[in-house]
Amino acid sequence: MNRILLFALVAALSTLSQVAEAEKSKVTYTKDIAPLLQAKCIECHRTQGLAPFNLQNYEQVRAWSKAIHKEVHDGRMPPWGLDPTVGEWSNDPTFSKAELAKIDSWMDSGMPKGNPKDMPKPLEFHEDWSIGEPDMIFEMPEEIVIPAEGVMDYQYHVTEMKIEEDLYVQALEVLPGNRRVVHHIIVFLQPPAAVAQAMSDGVTNTMLDVYAPGSPAGVNPPGVARLIPAGSTLMWQIHYTPTGEEERDRSKFGIVLAKEKPKELMRTATVVNTNFEIPPNTDDYVVESSMTIPQEATIYSYTPHMHYRGKAMDFFLTVPGGEEELACSIPRYDFNWQLDYFLADPLRVPAGTKVRVVATFDNSADNPYNPDPTKSVRWGEQTWEEMMMGGLFLSWADGNVDVPDVAEVEVDENVVRMAAGMVKQFDKNKDGAISKDEVPEAMQQFFGMIDTNADGGIDAVEMQTVVKMQGGR
Ligand code: HEC
Repeated sequence: MNRILLFALVAALSTLSQVAEAEKSKVTYTKDIAPLLQAKCIECHRTQGLAPFNLQNYEQVRAWSKAIHKEVHDGRMPPWGLDPTVGEWSNDPTFSKAELAKIDSWMDSGMPKGNPKDMPKPLEFHEDWSIGEPDMIFEMPEEIVIPAEGVMDYQYHVTEMKIEEDLYVQALEVLPGNRRVVHHIIVFLQPPAAVAQAMSDGVTNTMLDVYAPGSPAGVNPPGVARLIPAGSTLMWQIHYTPTGEEERDRSKFGIVLAKEKPKELMRTATVVNTNFEIPPNTDDYVVESSMTIPQEATIYSYTPHMHYRGKAMDFFLTVPGGEEELACSIPRYDFNWQLDYFLADPLRVPAGTKVRVVATFDNSADNPYNPDPTKSVRWGEQTWEEMMMGGLFLSWADGNVDVPDVAEVEVDENVVRMAAGMVKQFDKNKDGAISKDEVPEAMQQFFGMIDTNADGGIDAVEMQTVVKMQGGR
């Protein structure tokens, strides 16, 4: 072959392969974008998902492309809300810079569809346990009928667990029976009274798991487990929102047991302030609260909780002798998403570490979610009332994972006496317990939480919790 021809052929071939290369590196929907959306969006943006439209095929994604571009760049989707400059988080779903650049380049080049063969397999979803098949499943005591309309007070129900030995739990999950009406469910643990007394160590430790849009199942890291003492019961707090049709629900709570005895126990603590009044037509109203971690501990996560006027929440830590540091910052709180923020590296802190939580509320007309800016707002369970709660998952470092010996725990006579006295004071009909109409108004909204066996009355044992909360110990 003539050399010039050969040269031309080589040149042509190399151009061809360059074209092929360029073709290959071109960002396409099937090869690049669909996998990104599968990883970050499809969980909600699918036919059975939470979101109002789905993003499962090319046509849908193209149709929504403008909004997608805006939402991902503004950091509104996927829902997250954290200040990205504070902390690193293991469950951060946001796109990396490189991933955002890929989306931009795809949109700039006219959103090519690409080779259908590159399309990833559709994801499979099970409206079922995400923790795997539970070892034990506990149901709500009965099916609840949710009326078509109106406002339903929080429901409190109790399920006997009927367990005769202490359980160490690796993973736990609330499975709503009817997702159309379940707004949220919190399952609380209620050990037998004497055990609860023995285990109370300065932090509330009763919240087991939460179901709410966006909140993941409770899966503990290796070597860490939740303890459910023998003889415990579960209390369900359920918020239903009527749909316009009569609905029914019977939700479930499932647990997967730890394979081995854990090294540390996972527990929950909540920093709350129930005593505030947000004035009408005010923005940036600040409510604070703090607690001290009584022993050396590991912090795993932060969970903000407010209602529609909630605007921002910051968690600060101060180790003894140190300066206060911002540990988790949620500048754009969104009540629609109840998220737990898990640290990429759980943080060991010494005894005496202070957790200060600062909540900011927007009770102005500029808050599009505000149910009524002309009202002053106090603590309450319904969404037009407010809450100020900063939750933490943490474990003690002492390695003590056994149920304390009840016989060795000193009963605080002072608490017992004060609790009995309070019951006596309000128990107008002298039946040994106070019913909802007998308690002062300020306590009525906490009634369901204090009445831990949900029998409609607060007895002297249940009242001990209130006395302790008020610092009478
Ligand atoms: C945890 C569930 C969830 C995830 C994950 C999620 N979305 Fe959404 N998305 C929603 C819901 C619910 C809405 C409607 C309510 C709202 O706007 O907040 C929505 C709304 C949207 C909107 C419309 C906003 C508007 O009103 O213009 C876009 C666009 C969007 N999502 C894109 C995405 C993209 C892209 C991803 C992945 C990067 C994603 N979403 C991940 C639940 C989710």
